[in-house]
Amino acid sequence: MSAPALDSFRLAKRLDNVGFSDIVQIRNRVMELRSKGATVYQFEGGEPYQPTPDYIKAAAASALEQNQTRYAPSSGIPQLRAAIAAKLNERNHIDASDRNVLVVNGGMQGLFSAFQSVIDPEDDVLIFSPYWTPIKDLVANCGGRLVLVPTTEARAEGFRETLSKYITDKTRAIYFNTPTNPSGVVFTRAETEEVAAFALDRDLIVIADEAYEDIVYEGEHVSIASLPGMFDRTITSFTLSKSYAMTGWRIGYAVAAEPWMTGLAKSTLYSSNGVSTPTQWAALAALTEESDFIEKSRAAYRERRDLLIGGLNELGLGCAPPAGAFYAFPDVSNISRNSREASEILLAKAQVATVPGVVFGPQGEGHVRFSFSTSPEMIEGVLESMRRNL
Ligand SMILES: Cc1ncc(COP(=O)(O)O)c(C=O)c1O
Repeated sequence: MSAPALDSFRLAKRLDNVGFSDIVQIRNRVMELRSKGATVYQFEGGEPYQPTPDYIKAAAASALEQNQTRYAPSSGIPQLRAAIAAKLNERNHIDASDRNVLVVNGGMQGLFSAFQSVIDPEDDVLIFSPYWTPIKDLVANCGGRLVLVPTTEARAEGFRETLSKYITDKTRAIYFNTPTNPSGVVFTRAETEEVAAFALDRDLIVIADEAYEDIVYEGEHVSIASLPGMFDRTITSFTLSKSYAMTGWRIGYAVAAEPWMTGLAKSTLYSSNGVSTPTQWAALAALTEESDFIEKSRAAYRERRDLLIGGLNELGLGCAPPAGAFYAFPDVSNISRNSREASEILLAKAQVATVPGVVFGPQGEGHVRFSFSTSPEMIEGVLESMRRNL
C-alpha cells in the first residue's frame, strides 16, 4: 500500500480556528498539583455543588424500570416538549408551543445548533464582553467572526449607541447571555428592550443564552424572546444543568420559530439523533413535579456569594456583588495586571484555582473568576488561605 501524502493527515480547515477551552487546561494543572499531594481550593469550576434532587433521579430510575430505553423522537418526547412549552409561557412569558421546542443535549448543543443554523462563513456576531469563552469556538466553527462589545461601555453609554458603534455590514446576529458568565451581570428589562429594538431595527437574529435564568439575586430575569416582535428572530438556549444540578445528564432545550427550528432539528438529528430517553423522563419530572429546589439553591448561592464577596473586598480585591449566576469576578490588578499571572500567583501562594479573566475576552483582563458554588467552609478556607499567603 502506498504511503499517504503528508498533507492528507490534517484536520478539516474548518477546525483551524476552533480552540480547546483554557478552563480544561487549568483543570489539568489542578489535577497535576493534587496528584503531587498539594491541597488545592477549587474555585475554577462551573457547576452546581449539590447532587441532582432525588425526585429527578427517581424518575430516571422509573423510566429504566419501565423499559423506556428505545429511540425517542429526535426532537424530544411529546410529554416533555409540552411541559417545556407550558413552562416557557408561564415563567418566561415566551409565546411558544411544543412545535417551537427542541430537546437537546445541554445548553452547549442548543448553542452549537443555533450558530450552525444562522451563521455563514464571513458573518459577524456581536457579543457583549467579557463573554463565555466557548462562544468564540462555536462561531469559529461556522467560519464566522466575533465582534466584541464591551459590556461596561454599553451600560455607561447606552446599548443602542454602543451597538451602533460596533455593528459592521456583515453583522448577522447578537449573542445575548443573561445572567452572564463570568461577570454575573443580569441585564435589566430596559437594557434588554434596547438590545431588542436594535435587533429589530437592523434586522439581526438574536441567539439568547439563559443557562442561569433561575440564579438571579437582584432584579428580574427577562427573556428577550418575550419582548414584542422578538420571538420570530430569537433562538433561545435553555439548560437543566444549572437550575436542577444536572450538568452530567446533558439535557436542555432550544426554542425558536421557523426557519430556525428546521435548522436546529437538522443539526441535532445529524449530531446526536436526540437525547437519551430516560434522561428526558427525568427532565419531565424536574419541570413538572412540585419542588422548592430552585428557591433553596438560590438562597444557598446568595449566602455563599455574600461570604466570598465580603472576604474578597476585605482583601482589596474589589468586587461588586454579582446580580446572577454563581461567579465572582474581582479586580485582581493589585496582584498582577496580567490575569494569567494573577491566577498563577493565587494558585502558587494561596492554593486557589481560578480562571484568568482574559480567557473571557480582553475586557476580562485584570480580573479572575471564582465560582462560589461550593460549601461555606470551603469559602472560609480559601479566604483564610488568601489572608495568610498573599
Ligand atoms: C453561559 C453558559 N451557557 C451555556 C452553558 C452550557 O451548559 P450545558 O452544561 O447545559 O451545556 C454554560 C455552562 O457552563 C454557560 O456557562
